[in-house]
Amino acid sequence: MPSVFIKTYGCQMNERDSEAVAAQLVSRGYSLAPSEAGADVILLNTCSIRDQAEQKALGKMATLAAQRRKRGSNQVLGFVGCMAQGRGRELIERLPDVDLVLGTQRFHHAADHLDEILAGRMRNVVDIADEAGSEATIREHLFRPSGAQVTAFVSIMQGCNQYCTFCIVPYTRGPERSRATGDILAECRELVARGVKEITLLGQIVTSYGRREVPARGGRSAFVQLLDAVHAIEGLERIRFTSPHPKGYGADLIEAFTRLPKLCEHAHLPVQSGSDRLLRLMHRGYTRERFLGIVSALRAARPGIAIGTDIIVGFPGETEEDLQQTVALVREVGFDNVFAFKYSPREGTPAATMSGAVPEEVIERRHAHLLEVVNDCSARKLAQCVGRRMQVLVEGPSHRNPERVEGRTRCNRIVVFEGGARHHGQLLDVRIDRASRSTLYGDPAIHMDACDNAA
Ligand code: 5AD
Repeated sequence: MPSVFIKTYGCQMNERDSEAVAAQLVSRGYSLAPSEAGADVILLNTCSIRDQAEQKALGKMATLAAQRRKRGSNQVLGFVGCMAQGRGRELIERLPDVDLVLGTQRFHHAADHLDEILAGRMRNVVDIADEAGSEATIREHLFRPSGAQVTAFVSIMQGCNQYCTFCIVPYTRGPERSRATGDILAECRELVARGVKEITLLGQIVTSYGRREVPARGGRSAFVQLLDAVHAIEGLERIRFTSPHPKGYGADLIEAFTRLPKLCEHAHLPVQSGSDRLLRLMHRGYTRERFLGIVSALRAARPGIAIGTDIIVGFPGETEEDLQQTVALVREVGFDNVFAFKYSPREGTPAATMSGAVPEEVIERRHAHLLEVVNDCSARKLAQCVGRRMQVLVEGPSHRNPERVEGRTRCNRIVVFEGGARHHGQLLDVRIDRASRSTLYGDPAIHMDACDNAA
């Protein structure tokens, strides 16, 4: 039986795609290799969002190819996902040892191609075709023993029609295509029946879910109707979704936060910039004022909601004044977490040919300044959790120290505390004792007191 190792770069959508490919291969008789060493097949599931992500995967593949040559092994090497889609055959011209290049609409053909390659009937396969209906194919899961998996991702749509001027996603993931609601609900129900307590609905722009297929009903968009239906699944405790577009936070979605208790108090609202001038150039479709309005409405709907964002520094034409507006917005909102990215020109996007490129050293300086403000802000938010009791869904052993367990609060913060297998999969009220830069720590004794009190 051939064994496969999949290394994933990039976002949660990529993680979910890798999972689905792994499940597909296992159902074909492949085994999952615990590491690269000794795997018969290595697939790199790639990311194109910034140049750095592409360079990492290219460098990794060059290393793997060199090792394979040195050993004279017939290990199969493949690129799958976004960079495979965007670059296609160019990848094989550059790295002739690559056996497979598989695009984002063809993940479900991985097993067919690998069977052929392993049998020696094909080599250097490039399959990056568009495929109608491919959004419905990301549905397989690797089922672990019932109860062992507490959280799961469910893909609800693929692609994006927003065409932000900096973004490669519409080109690598194609146009928006939504899965049928019935299929999504069946998948969610099956996961819950196996012990999953938290589901994250995934897509490149989830707030656009079903826009063309499902008519609004009672003022509720297709996406909110989907949230309602997922919320009704008995046994499911928590719902999250990512990535949304701020434009998608209409009155109906904000109201959903008042109505649906399973919807966690955590919203990712990628703002990208605090300058209206840049927001227009980026083709974001909202102003700074509108964005601030969404934040206030969400906080009114769900007091204490954690708000995260993404920001790009160094977009073409960005001035010091634009950056100041972004910094001021960060301070005004008081984000719980911020991903700050240095602008990376992506070939084929409108921004890549815009004038006013910001010099690298200026981007570095502005990025460092923004990070200082951001770190300050998020450290303060974390410190505010100390002394509070928070609901934690325990996901398993702590990554850093397997003697402890870790889980997430409803606000999506990681909490680590002393515990064992008996805690896995449980929703516990934990009192937060201490905060590091990114993690909260709880005290199990206090947790047990809390239980005694509750009993
Ligand atoms: N350069 C830098 N960051 C980018 N992002 C998307 N495209 C680019 C780019 N060309 C960021 C955005 C987005 C996040 C997923 O990645 O902030 O929200």
